[in-house]
Amino acid sequence: MSDPQCDVVIVGAGPTGLSAARTLQAAGKDVVVLEARDRVGGRTWTDHIDGQMYEIGGQWISPDQTALLQLVAELGKETYQRYREGDSVYIAPDGTRTVYSGDMFPVGESTQAEMERLIAQLDELAARIGPTAPWDAEDAAELDSVSFHHWLRSQSDDEIACANIGMFIAGGMLTKPATTFSALQAILMAASAGSFTHLVDDHFILDRRVVGGMQSVSEQMAAELGEDVVHLNSPVRTIEWTEDSVTVGTDAMNVSANRVIVAVPPNLYSRISYTPHLPRLQQVFHQHQSMGLVIKVHATYQTPFWREDGLCGTGFGAGQIVQEVYDNTNHGEEQGTLVGFISDVNADAMFALDEDTRKQRILESLADFLGPRALEPEVFYLSDFGAEEWTRGAYATSYDLGGLHRWGRFQNDPVGPIHFASSDIAAQGYQHVDGAIRIGQDTAAKILST
Ligand code: FDA
Repeated sequence: MSDPQCDVVIVGAGPTGLSAARTLQAAGKDVVVLEARDRVGGRTWTDHIDGQMYEIGGQWISPDQTALLQLVAELGKETYQRYREGDSVYIAPDGTRTVYSGDMFPVGESTQAEMERLIAQLDELAARIGPTAPWDAEDAAELDSVSFHHWLRSQSDDEIACANIGMFIAGGMLTKPATTFSALQAILMAASAGSFTHLVDDHFILDRRVVGGMQSVSEQMAAELGEDVVHLNSPVRTIEWTEDSVTVGTDAMNVSANRVIVAVPPNLYSRISYTPHLPRLQQVFHQHQSMGLVIKVHATYQTPFWREDGLCGTGFGAGQIVQEVYDNTNHGEEQGTLVGFISDVNADAMFALDEDTRKQRILESLADFLGPRALEPEVFYLSDFGAEEWTRGAYATSYDLGGLHRWGRFQNDPVGPIHFASSDIAAQGYQHVDGAIRIGQDTAAKILST
């Protein structure tokens, strides 16, 4: 194959890379997309396990994710709501199980009041600081120098309130222990979703899914770009650059272009060799964005049995192995499917077990929420993005303590003709497919405007 030339070469065929390519192509630019895997979609991936369709990566859309909703509509795709009729289950740190309705966990009155106070405080901070430049806030350095765990405990003496509020960002979003990231990083997470209240409201944050799965959004974008545009099985190894040109090398070819968009998560930037090497600033701060770790648990049953018990399938338990569980029955499916999440140190503990014991412990945890019928799924599968060479964790990357205010302001800066883009450095929609679409389109627009 002769080495192609184009206007812009894009590294990575996830939602970021493909939406950038789509925008550039629509403006008349020649693009080439180089993807390491044998499929497009990156951290969105729809697969069949023992005949059962599972969304192994990203799947949910919330109402504020308008860039993604608009793209889904443009592609002519349909969405559907998550099943949510009935009561939820809360498991307290002492193991007590309570069935409840409404948004607030069934905790004591004073803990409830404390949770509401902390939520209001985080809403205020998120509104004031915003998702675009949290590092510019006057108290950015202060909020970035204290872990979210310790910040919560400096605001409240109520341990249960702190653990429950911590869960929504730590296990629930950044998938790292709350001691390892800052209060500022937590506020960015909330601001990027519109408010902390949105993160607490599962009806909002886990609202809709795409019929046929979220990966199909990327598959359709790739198909529309054209077969000769997207090259699979093409990990990019090298980028040689001058101020106004790049040569991007895979094992099989070199692509020459005026610009490159590196549309991979920041933890993978340094897998590519740059000649000349990147400036000191990038070489240093790229080391401080690391992936969280979460296991997405899928279990399919003959029927959605929990609905017979008046339950919607939703369960929360900050101290449990499975910390959140939801009804994840696919569109039009007769069986019932649950999805659960096992985050950070609990994920480490599960991966340390042999396969049978791991499965048993996880099913027991689901059964603690939804009863003994949860012990006998027809299909069971664990998403393991930590073992994927071209992701290395889940859901996304965040800065270590103090990194956001120190380096966040530089993360979107191009280096010569090299642009960086991914959901992990998006503002609105940060860590989500919506953020990927936004930053893909915005990066393309920046290139088009120069
Ligand atoms: P993404 O990682 O998707 O794509 C990057 C691409 O670059 C990959 O295809 C990779 O193979 C490729 N690549 C890497 N290095 C390369 C190299 N050197 N050369 C060539 N190619 C290279 N979001 C959401 O909105 N709702 C949700 O419900 C969830 N849930 C969720 C669950 C799980 C388990 C995960 C892992 C993630 C989510 N997410 C999510 C997050 C969402 O999936 C994520 O934000 C987007 O997929 C990010 O898109 P990007 O294109 O930025 O990166």
